[in-house]
Amino acid sequence: MRAVALAVFLGLLVVIQVFPSSVAALSTKYYDHSCPQLESLVTNAVKKAMKNDNTVPAALLRMHFHDCFIRGCDGSVLLNSTAKHTAEKDGPPNISLHAFYVIDNAKKAIEAACPGIVSCADILALAARDAVALSGGPTWEVPKGRLDGRVSKASDTRQLPAPTFNLSQLQQSFSQRGLSLDDLVALSGGHTLGFAHCSSFQNRIHKFSPTREVDPTLSSSFAASLRSVCPEHNALKNAGSTLDSTTTVFDNVYYKMLLQERSIFSSDQALLTSPRTKALVSKFATSRQAFEKAFINSMIKMSSLTGGQEIRLNCRVVR
Ligand SMILES: *[C@@H]1O[C@H](CO)[C@@H](O)[C@H](O)[C@H]1NC(C)=O
Ligand SMILES: *[C@@H]1O[C@H](CO)[C@@H](O)[C@H](O)[C@H]1NC(C)=O
Ligand SMILES: *[C@@H]1O[C@H](CO)[C@@H](O)[C@H](O)[C@H]1NC(C)=O
Repeated sequence: MRAVALAVFLGLLVVIQVFPSSVAALSTKYYDHSCPQLESLVTNAVKKAMKNDNTVPAALLRMHFHDCFIRGCDGSVLLNSTAKHTAEKDGPPNISLHAFYVIDNAKKAIEAACPGIVSCADILALAARDAVALSGGPTWEVPKGRLDGRVSKASDTRQLPAPTFNLSQLQQSFSQRGLSLDDLVALSGGHTLGFAHCSSFQNRIHKFSPTREVDPTLSSSFAASLRSVCPEHNALKNAGSTLDSTTTVFDNVYYKMLLQERSIFSSDQALLTSPRTKALVSKFATSRQAFEKAFINSMIKMSSLTGGQEIRLNCRVVR
């Protein structure tokens, strides 16, 4: 009996050492008693913002992804720069995150209802879920109980997977965070919402290689249209492309376009370069249901990477 308990205890120690950021006890019922209004307050803030700006859902989903990939989902992406430190949100590469005000508005309403209890990291995780659900995607119960971090460094944004990554680079970036190739394919489906500036796919449409101007894995008509929106020099400041043709709807069109050689990033195209990931792309292109199920699963996995220490009162400043 005692030997078994010890083995379990040692096993737990090993788990804690290997995955320091993935053992927090999150629970879907975490705020049931302390802040029962929480979820509706977040949903209202997201709904209200979406009425005026249909890019808000994509922005929130991306913000959460970015948050979780750096120091775990600890709200570090929400922190402002200070006199001494440049924060993630102001860092290279041009991360062009926006819609921070949605989290601020939700936080204000939540502080009025249940002060000092709900972390900014949890608010962002809920807002990302709502962004998906309110765009026609699935909904799910979000495990909660994250804490907010106290550190946000511009230089850390270099740890984010880049749009130019190939499959082995993507796999490495995901596996460092306990995420699998299957998670990579499912989470890439988040590109069903969103927009890319020319600079992030420039590598595919101009001077692709010493011998080729354009990435040969791109459909030539699609490449031509991207090139006309994004000329090599002097593209308009905010020029770019949506990541699929139904950019405000959470659906599986992203995967269909990927199979038609109409993806935007090299990191999208990379999903077709191994049999395993390509098979998943085909499955998700055929079945929206299969995609949604896998997406929920991988979102919960990703958003359970935690790392904070406190509950902020204002999401932009540490306590
Ligand atoms: C954070 O930065 C934004 C944008 O620069 C600014 O408008 C806001 O007042 C700052 N908030 C705090 C609490 O410092
Ligand atoms: C992926 O990119 C890395 C870094 O440029 C390179 O070392 C590696 O060979 C590439 N892998 C494949 C499969 O192309
Ligand atoms: C980042 O933004 C700056 C200024 O807006 C621009 O000059 C630069 O080319 C951008 N870099 C990338 C990688 O997008």
